[in-house]
Amino acid sequence: MTLRTDPDDQPVALDTTGETSPYPFFEYMRHTDPVWHGSLADHSQLPEELRPDDEWVLFGYDGVFQAFRDDRIFTSAAYDKTIGLVMGHTILAMGGKEHHDHRNLVAKAFRATALERWEPSVIGPICDRLVDEIKNDGQADLVKALTFEFPTRIIATLLGLPPEDLDLFRRLSLDLISIPTDIVAGLNAAAELHGYFLEQVEQRRRQLTDDIIGDLVAAEIDGEKLTDEAIIAFLRLLLPAGLETTYRSSGNLLYLLLSHPEQLAMVYQDRSLIAGAIEEGLRFETPLTMVMRTTTEDVELGGKTIPGGAQIDLCMGSANRDENRWTDANTFDIRRPRQAHIAFAGGIHMCLGMHLARLETRVMLNSLFDRVKDLAMLADDGTGEESRIVGLTFRSPNKLPVTFSPAA
Ligand code: HEM
Repeated sequence: MTLRTDPDDQPVALDTTGETSPYPFFEYMRHTDPVWHGSLADHSQLPEELRPDDEWVLFGYDGVFQAFRDDRIFTSAAYDKTIGLVMGHTILAMGGKEHHDHRNLVAKAFRATALERWEPSVIGPICDRLVDEIKNDGQADLVKALTFEFPTRIIATLLGLPPEDLDLFRRLSLDLISIPTDIVAGLNAAAELHGYFLEQVEQRRRQLTDDIIGDLVAAEIDGEKLTDEAIIAFLRLLLPAGLETTYRSSGNLLYLLLSHPEQLAMVYQDRSLIAGAIEEGLRFETPLTMVMRTTTEDVELGGKTIPGGAQIDLCMGSANRDENRWTDANTFDIRRPRQAHIAFAGGIHMCLGMHLARLETRVMLNSLFDRVKDLAMLADDGTGEESRIVGLTFRSPNKLPVTFSPAA
């Protein structure tokens, strides 16, 4: 289904299937109606009672930033009624002291300094091994061989799951994040993961281990241990929040570098450019383009009054191309002057795993560049379908067929 903003004016349409790029539509909306009383979603498949009564979308950087910062008026509590039905009550839906206490418990493990020890012991070896497996093959689909696999293995290891459970964990993770397209498989995976994680928690209640699940089992809020349900909710959230976003963003960055070979060559030569490339990839092709909030009271924004109780979609994908903030915002340029993007959100819910995501992506790129050379997109992989970034809310390449030769 497509939407037209103004059929009499310009035929700018949004393809809600995500098959074609939403960016021309986002640009049009930033210019014509950045605080839009409308919806980017196709709710026609939803039962009447689940369709939002009053929906708005923010397209400009300033509006999106303000909504993230003002968590009193723009609350995320409605996550309990959406992803909460599958994940349980997670920190994403919490506010105030409850959020502060729960986030503090886990924040320590995800601080940039805490991650340093994982680079040589976990992240580096996992990425090296994966690239070693393909480096002599001459060609590969990097989505299949690398971009999904490395964050899956890293999360499984950091959680402290037994290596023999990797296949099970991979299958359940894939099914869980497929909820938007296959709700039955998603719900079954959520139930199975509940049982699986409960077993892991119980083992650690008997004998504590030095891993993220062990940290959560040992943690206390106001002298009280976390309940099994609270721990399991957090663990299940890590799959869409930590695994899916990283696999999509690293795929986007590889796609963008491969389709800008001069910039790929620059990064190969000068690895200090990787950090800027990661940020530009996140800005230019934001893996999660929008998140939802609900207004707790009437609020003025961009000259309009949004009523209390409305659903607000914060379109980070559009905000990250705001021409008031970036020159040539529609150009992918890893050397552009640094200016914070909003792919990791902002305010109290700003991504807890952003340092890990950056670290994983940097290490993965270095492993790849150290082991293969002449990396190039394979124009025709024989399927008749080209490689492209697809999706509306979640965006990433459908595939990344590449050719290469082993480095030295
Ligand atoms: C490039 C990769 C990533 C992107 C683009 C991303 C993006 C985001 C965004 C936009 C939010 C805020 C959602 C909202 O407010 O509605 C968020 C929150 C969160 N992210 Fe990430 N994320 C990434 C990687 C990770 C990783 C690797 C982890 C952990 C393993 C993680 C864990 C979380 C958690 C736990 C939250 C909830 C924080 C809170 O509610 O206080 N994320 N992420």
